[in-house]
Amino acid sequence: VPVDAFDLVIFGGTGDLALRKLLPALFHRFVDGQIVPDSRVIGIAREGLAENDYRTQVRAAIQRAVPSSEYVVADLDTFMQQVSYRSLDATRETGWQEFAASLTANSEKVRVFYLATSPDIFASVCGRLREHGLTTGNVRVVIEKPIGRDLKSAAAINDAVGRAFEERQTYRIDHYLGKETVQNLTALRFGNVLFEPLWRAEHIDHVQITVAETIGVESRGAYYDTAGALRDMVQNHLLQLLCMVAMEPPASLDADSIRDEKLKVLHSLHPIDESNAAQLTVRGQYRAGASDQGAVPGYLEEIGKPNSRNDTFVAIKAEVRNWRWAGVPFYLRTGKRLPNRVSEIVITFKAIPHSIFGNSAGPIAPNKLVLRLQPDEGVKLWLMIKYPGPGGLRLRHVPLDMSFAETFGVRNPDAYERLLMDVVRGNPMLFMRRDEVEAAWKWIDPILAAWEASAEAPKPYTSGTWGPSAAVALIERDGRTWHEDA
Ligand code: BG6
Repeated sequence: VPVDAFDLVIFGGTGDLALRKLLPALFHRFVDGQIVPDSRVIGIAREGLAENDYRTQVRAAIQRAVPSSEYVVADLDTFMQQVSYRSLDATRETGWQEFAASLTANSEKVRVFYLATSPDIFASVCGRLREHGLTTGNVRVVIEKPIGRDLKSAAAINDAVGRAFEERQTYRIDHYLGKETVQNLTALRFGNVLFEPLWRAEHIDHVQITVAETIGVESRGAYYDTAGALRDMVQNHLLQLLCMVAMEPPASLDADSIRDEKLKVLHSLHPIDESNAAQLTVRGQYRAGASDQGAVPGYLEEIGKPNSRNDTFVAIKAEVRNWRWAGVPFYLRTGKRLPNRVSEIVITFKAIPHSIFGNSAGPIAPNKLVLRLQPDEGVKLWLMIKYPGPGGLRLRHVPLDMSFAETFGVRNPDAYERLLMDVVRGNPMLFMRRDEVEAAWKWIDPILAAWEASAEAPKPYTSGTWGPSAAVALIERDGRTWHEDA
C-alpha cells in the first residue's frame, strides 16, 4: 500500500548509513510501488556538491546494494529524479533560510528529518530546524544511535531533541527491531497458544542471544574506539532483543503498550557493577587471525592505537528479576571478527522430568526454539524424534525447520525499509521511547564503570574464533554451552 507523499531530508546524506542503507531501502520501497511520485528525498551534507554529482554517488550506491535482477534501469532513472542535494552546515546560518523556504512551499506533506550524523550535531540541527519553523505537527525526526555514550549524555541529547520536537514526533531507531525475525517473535509468542504457557522460568532453562559479525571495525575506527561493543551493540540491539523475548503480553500492538512492557523488563534487570562484573561479564579484543576474507590484522593495528582498551567482544550473564523470569539466565554475546555472521535468539527449555527410555535410546536433549535473525532468517524448534527403522527406540534431536525464504519465496526486506515507511506512516511501534533508551543506559553505566575501574585489560582473542575462552567459561561454569547449529 503506497504511503502518503513525503519529503525525507537526510542529514549526513553523503555518509555511510545513507548510501549503504537508507537510499537502497528507499529505492526498494519505490520499486515495490510504495513511494508515490511527488515524494522527495533530499540529501544534506556540509560539502558543496553539485546535484548531479550527488545523484551519481547515490546511483552507484544503489547499484552496489541492490542486485540488478530486482529492478529495471528505468526505475532507477525515475527514482533519481526524486533525489536532490543541498549543502548545509548545522553550525552556520548560511543557506538555512532558503532550505526552509524550499520545504514550506509544500507544508501539507509529511516531512521527515533523518539525523544520520554524529550525535554531536543533533542539538544544533534540531535548534536550526526549530528556529526556521520546521518543527510543525506534520514533521517527524529520526535519530540514529549512538544516543549518547552514557545516561548523562543520552539525557542531554534527548533534552536537546525534546526542545524542538515532541516525543510523539521523535523516532529513535534501532534497526534490529525492524528485522523480520524480531517481528516474527511477537507473532510466534502472541499468535499461537503453544508457547505462552511455557514462556517462563518453570519451563525455560535459559536464553541465549548471539549477534556475531565477521567484519572488523572497517572505516569506523574513530567512532568505534570511543564506543566499543557494549555501547555499540549491547545497550541497544541486544537489550531490545532481550526485551522482546522477556516482556509480558502487551495490551495491544499500540506503540506505548509495547514500550511500557519493554521498559518493565529493563527495570527488572539485575544490576551488574563493580561487585559482580568480574563474574558476570567478559570483554574481549580481537588480535590478528583469519576472517572469511583471509588473514586480518588485530584491532590495535587496525586503528593504530597500541594502548586502546576498547572492547570488540562482550559476553554477559544477565538476569531479569521478576515473577516470570527469576533464576533464568540470559546469556548475551556479541563481537566483531568472530567465525560466522550469525544473529540468533535461542530459548532452551528444561529437561524432561523423568526418562522412560533406557540408555540405548541415546541422550535426551532439551527442546530448543531458535530464532535466526540473519542470515537465512527462520525459526527452528528442536524436538526429540524416533530414529526411523526397526532397530529399537532410538531418539534423535531434530529441528522442525521453517525458513522464511523457502516458506514464502519472497525477498526478505531490509529492516530500514520497514522502519522508514513506519516513520512516514507515523507508526512508532518499532522505535524506542526516551525512557527506554535511558533505562538501558542506566543498566549499562555501572558495567562500564566497573570495567573502567578494573586493572584488567580486555581479554585477547584470535580473529576468527568465538571470543576469549572466558566467554566459554562464563556459560560452562553453569553446566551449559553456547548453542551451535548442528
Ligand atoms: C550497527 C553497529 O548498529 O549494527 C555496527 O553500529 C554493526 O557496528 C551493525 O556492524 C550490525 O548490523 P547488522 O544489521 O549488519 O547486523
